[in-house]
Amino acid sequence: MLKNFWYAIAFAHEVEHRPSKVTCLGQDFVIWRRRNGTVACLSDLCVHRGGALSMGTLVEDRVTCPYHGWEYEADGSCVRIPANPPGRGIPKKARVDSYPVVEKYGMVWAFLGDLPEERRPPIPHVAEHGDPSFRPVYWQTVLEANYERAMENVVDAAHTPFVHGSFLGDPDKPEIPDYEVTQDEWHAEADIRLHPPVSKGLWGMLAPKRLDHVVVTNGWYLPNVVKLHVRLPFGDLILYDHNIPLSQNRTLVKLVGYRNFFPGRWADGNALKRIRRIFEQDRKVVEAQRPELLPYDLAAELHLRSDALQIAYRRRRQELAEQGWFLDDGDVVVGDVPRREATVIPSPARRDNPELARAWVHKTRGDDHEPARSAE
Ligand code: FES
Ligand SMILES: [Fe+2]
Repeated sequence: MLKNFWYAIAFAHEVEHRPSKVTCLGQDFVIWRRRNGTVACLSDLCVHRGGALSMGTLVEDRVTCPYHGWEYEADGSCVRIPANPPGRGIPKKARVDSYPVVEKYGMVWAFLGDLPEERRPPIPHVAEHGDPSFRPVYWQTVLEANYERAMENVVDAAHTPFVHGSFLGDPDKPEIPDYEVTQDEWHAEADIRLHPPVSKGLWGMLAPKRLDHVVVTNGWYLPNVVKLHVRLPFGDLILYDHNIPLSQNRTLVKLVGYRNFFPGRWADGNALKRIRRIFEQDRKVVEAQRPELLPYDLAAELHLRSDALQIAYRRRRQELAEQGWFLDDGDVVVGDVPRREATVIPSPARRDNPELARAWVHKTRGDDHEPARSAE
């Protein structure tokens, strides 16, 4: 799992003026919408005794810990300790990590890392969002699999005739012509020719004849977004999957599907039904993959020309791992076992306040250059 990226953590329409818990990279966060409309995101770990802030309430725009009532501002600083008599100051270390938040493309994105603004990788550009010719639908599900396995599945064209033969891909024509990968630092995509079967039902009415081929565009955007653009005979269907790592082996997939045909609300249910059907076909194979985690070593699995997009992803993640952007198992809270340490991802404020860099959480990760170890 990678830190120092913008992660989509919620659909924008889900976030209200009350604390709610979200999980990403195996860590819990509390988010809420402030009265000015912006969203705040803090580590869900009260610095006093580790209470879960997401179980608290809001006082104006501040979140209150449910245990002893400490109040935190959106920047993570504690501004009220009810047990203190009037006049007693608040220690500088009484604060929690606060993460930058941006709302874009119908999602709330939190920057989980400590890089200053100018060094942060970009949020993937979604050209269809806000374009009146496209209509979005939103759907989410929990996948009992690692998020990188889920990502690779979406960019993998060769599985379509076998897993989705009824929708896309023809098992009698499973060859994947060689394709060209277009890549930059944070993203890669490719146009790939597939042979589709005849559409059925509502969509079949628009395209009764079998086409020789369709071109799909498959792509990944670091750290966890994948795009599937299917050019159907009657229009475009473009899916963005945000693969949110709840832990190493559980993924919350938040999916936005844009279409520029049947633009009315009445067709949303049908579009969602098809998206779910495709996803459920993938679920079976992805949840059964072993090893559960994506191998680090490129030589650990056999690759073909048709796996070029996945190879590009694995190479790039390797580079980032070498750069120190990886969170490994030891750093991330996973599963339901009792914890000796609770970890948080360093936020920009730690970098800005070196004297506090290791101060305000029970156990913390180190910075870019030091592996995880912490002080009090
Ligand atoms: S644990 Fe949060 S105020 Fe005590
Ligand atoms: Fe699939």
